[in-house]
Amino acid sequence: MSTQEKMDQYTMQTYKRQEVCLVSGKGATATDEQGKTYIDFGSGIGVNALGYAPEQWAQAVALQAQTLQHTSNLYYTKPAAELAQALCERTGYQKVFFANSGAEANEGAIKLARKYSHDRYGAKANRNKVVSLVNSFHGRTITTLAATGQEVFHQNYFPFTPGFVAIPANETSHLAEALDEQVCAVIIEFIQGEGGVIPLTQAFVAQLVAFCQERDILIIADEVQTGVGRTGTFLTSEQYGFQPDITTLAKGLGGGLPIGAFLCNEKLANVFQYGDHGTTFGGNPVACAGALVILQTLDDALLAEVREKSDQIKTVLQSSPEVGQIDGLGLMLGIELKTKTAPAVLKECLANGVIVLSAKEKVRLLPPLNITKEELNQGLEILLHVLNATNH
Ligand SMILES: Cc1ncc(COP(=O)(O)O)c(C=O)c1O
Repeated sequence: MSTQEKMDQYTMQTYKRQEVCLVSGKGATATDEQGKTYIDFGSGIGVNALGYAPEQWAQAVALQAQTLQHTSNLYYTKPAAELAQALCERTGYQKVFFANSGAEANEGAIKLARKYSHDRYGAKANRNKVVSLVNSFHGRTITTLAATGQEVFHQNYFPFTPGFVAIPANETSHLAEALDEQVCAVIIEFIQGEGGVIPLTQAFVAQLVAFCQERDILIIADEVQTGVGRTGTFLTSEQYGFQPDITTLAKGLGGGLPIGAFLCNEKLANVFQYGDHGTTFGGNPVACAGALVILQTLDDALLAEVREKSDQIKTVLQSSPEVGQIDGLGLMLGIELKTKTAPAVLKECLANGVIVLSAKEKVRLLPPLNITKEELNQGLEILLHVLNATNH
C-alpha cells in the first residue's frame, strides 16, 4: 500500500491533498518520496518560520526531548518560563497563556475577554457579545467557527456558541452601531489570511481602536498567521501603531511544533485565577524550547530581510502580465491573477518544483522568513515562468 493509499483508507477524508508525500527538507527546500525537490513558498501554511530542520531549533528540540518531554502544568519547567519571559519582553505584554494551536489560543482569548467583562460589569449586564469581521478565519472549534465570519465554514455544525456577530471589514460606518453595550470584545486579523490576504486599512483600525477605548471593549488581535515576524515586524500590530488588549499567536511561533499562545496587557493580567483555564499540553517543554530558538533568531536584521524580500517578490512578480494587485505585508503575500486560477497555478508550480498556496482566488506566498536569496530567486523564476505560460 502506498502512503497515499494508507492515508486515504485510514484517515477521515477532510483534506484535499496534493499527490505528493514530503519526506525531508532543509531550509526552504523539501524533498518528496521520489527524491524530487521543491522550493517551498508555503512553510506548511506559515508554520516553518525558519524553514525545514533549522539547526539550532532541531538541536534544542532534540535535547529537550531527550531530557524532559512533558510534565503537565502541575509543575514548573524552564523552557516555558523562559519563553514566557522572552515573549512578554519582546511584545510589551504582561502575561501569556500557552495553548496548542491557533484555534485554542483564540478560544482562550475569548474566554479571557468574557471573564473580564463579567468581573467588571456583572452577569446581569449581559456584556458578552464578541464582534468579528466578515471573511475572517479564527479556527475550527465550535466557538472559533462562531467567530469566523464565513458562512461556508458554518454548514452542518449548528448550533454554535451564541454571542457572535460579524460586521464588514474596512467599513467604518458599521462600527458605532455594532459596538453596543452588550459587546465585550472585537476580534480581528490585521490581514485576513484564509479570507484571501486582505489587509485592514489603517483608517478602519484607528476608528475601531477609538470606539473600543471609549466603550471599554477589548480588542483581540488574532495574529496566528500574521505574528512572529511574518509581516516584517514581530507583531503586525506594531505597523498599526497600537497594542491590542490580547494578541493570539500560533503557527510560526513553534517553528514546526504545535504551540499556541495568547498574551494580554496589564488590564487583563489578573482576570484568570486558579482553575479558570487550562490545558494538558500547554507550555510543553519541547515546543517551548523550539519556540525560544525562533524568538532568539528573529532579530532586527532578520525582520529587515523579511521586508526586503517582500519588496523583491513584489517587483519580480509585478513584471508578469498575469499578475494584478499584490496584497499583504512582509512574507505574507496574496497575488491576484488576471486569467489563470489559483489551483491551476498551484498545480503547475508543484509540477515544476515550487510549493505555493492559495487563499480564495489568490495565489498566497508564505515562504520561510530566512529563505536564502538563491532559493528565493530560483523559486521566483519558476513561479514567474508558470504565471507567464500561455493558457491552454
Ligand atoms: C488567523 C488564523 N486564526 C486561527 C487559525 C487556526 O489555527 P489552528 O489551525 O492552529 O487551530 C488560523 C489557521 O489558519 C488562522 O490563519
